[in-house]
Amino acid sequence: MSSENTFDLIVIGSGPGGYVAAIRGAQLGLKTAIIEKDKTLGGTCLNVGCIPSKALLHSTEMYHFAGHGAAEHGIDLTNLSISIEQLMAKKDKTVAQLCNGVQFLMKSNKIKVFNGFGMLAGENKVRVKGAKDETELSGKHILIATGSSTIELPFLKFDGETVVSSDQAIAFDKVPEKLAVVGAGAIGLELGSVWARLGAQVEVIEFLPTIAPTFDKDVSKMAERLFKKQGLNFNLNTKVTGLKKSKGKQFLTAEKDGKAIEFEADKVLVAVGRQPYTERLGLETLGIETDEKGRIPVGEHFKTSADGIYAIGDVITGPMLAHKAEEEAVACVERIAGQAGHVNYDVIPNVIYTEPELASVGLTEAAAKEKGVEFKSGKFNFAGNGRAIASDGTDGFVKVTACKKTDRILGVQIIGKGASELIAAAVTHMEYGGSAEDLGRTIHAHPTMSEALKEAGLAVGGNAIHSA
Ligand code: NAI
Repeated sequence: MSSENTFDLIVIGSGPGGYVAAIRGAQLGLKTAIIEKDKTLGGTCLNVGCIPSKALLHSTEMYHFAGHGAAEHGIDLTNLSISIEQLMAKKDKTVAQLCNGVQFLMKSNKIKVFNGFGMLAGENKVRVKGAKDETELSGKHILIATGSSTIELPFLKFDGETVVSSDQAIAFDKVPEKLAVVGAGAIGLELGSVWARLGAQVEVIEFLPTIAPTFDKDVSKMAERLFKKQGLNFNLNTKVTGLKKSKGKQFLTAEKDGKAIEFEADKVLVAVGRQPYTERLGLETLGIETDEKGRIPVGEHFKTSADGIYAIGDVITGPMLAHKAEEEAVACVERIAGQAGHVNYDVIPNVIYTEPELASVGLTEAAAKEKGVEFKSGKFNFAGNGRAIASDGTDGFVKVTACKKTDRILGVQIIGKGASELIAAAVTHMEYGGSAEDLGRTIHAHPTMSEALKEAGLAVGGNAIHSA
């Protein structure tokens, strides 16, 4: 094989896991290639996931404020209107800017980009099927970072028109009158919020008794109450059974307490999770088997059962989050290069970008209980925070959970305006093994929402200043 097609590291997939792995590889002196099947780099996150949804959330939050909050500030916005076409154009511009940014990073790091479908084709071999031709590459190390795809419900198959995944729900050309959302996780709540703010009547159907079930119950409960006020209607403990058409209308059918119910809907967004994407990857050529959930099992340092093949991100175990994939990418490639890369799985932040936002890190109280860890929690409501009062951010709280014996922080949960940014301070404290008292004694600028974190740290010891 020509030296042109021979690499130290070949990365399959250019999402946050893949492209970060390629950059780290290049930084460490590895001759690196990256393969991407889609037209643009960046994977789900940049193209149809994190970034476009955040762009839509930002635009619609401003629109919602203009229609519902501006008047109180003396801002007169009568005759307010919104163009969905322009809203989508703004989102597309954001996506394009970031995808081009990744392309630029590949170029500046001298990473060779192959456009086409990457497949394992034997020991150290990868085949790239392009639109017109096929190329064979040779790699000393091959990293699978192919991510995940949406999960389809067998009785509610995607048709791209009525029953859709987030891929289409970020690009509707008009506001659905009635939108049914199946699943009250991150995607359901974020995209449900976007379309509710734009005027859709949104029914969220969730199998479990709470929305945002990965958060502590008090966070989920408050979120449910606040989102209800924004027009999202929740149907919990409800099992979706299918879709029925009658008299030119469509109805999502479901079951609650043994009773059949139905929701009229012109669009149904199915957001019940994602699954590892390993289709046609050629895992069988190297004897790599997937587990019961379709994930690629990895051992030490992200090694699969085949020599020289590694896997990271959504295709392996753990939360399907871009930042988790990025950390694994860096750790995996550093190990390949003989360094000591490591991922701290106990400190991975988790965020839902609604208004208010939900953010957490570490153990929930429920998980601490399950592990038999004795803990104490301190809570501080944003209602007692000056900056929150001055900037319409009083809904929500910060809760710090710490080990009863050592005071070491086990987890932090935040529901509130800007929680996605606030959680970073908690992550840092936890990364360094900080205690609740450390957090409580750390100086935070006044007036900031972050003071609520400090107060929650103090509250663990019963010492919060601004609470009754
Ligand atoms: P998810 O796993 O976050 O939530 C799915 C929800 O659907 C759960 O509450 C589950 O109980 C419910 N559910 C499952 N089957 C159901 C059924 N048949 N009927 C009714 N409810 C049902 O999955 P989601 O929201 O689709 O997101 C997919 C992945 O992408 C997740 O891993 C998520 O963490 C990630 N993601 C992260 C974002 C973020 O970090 N802000 C944003 C969007 C997605």
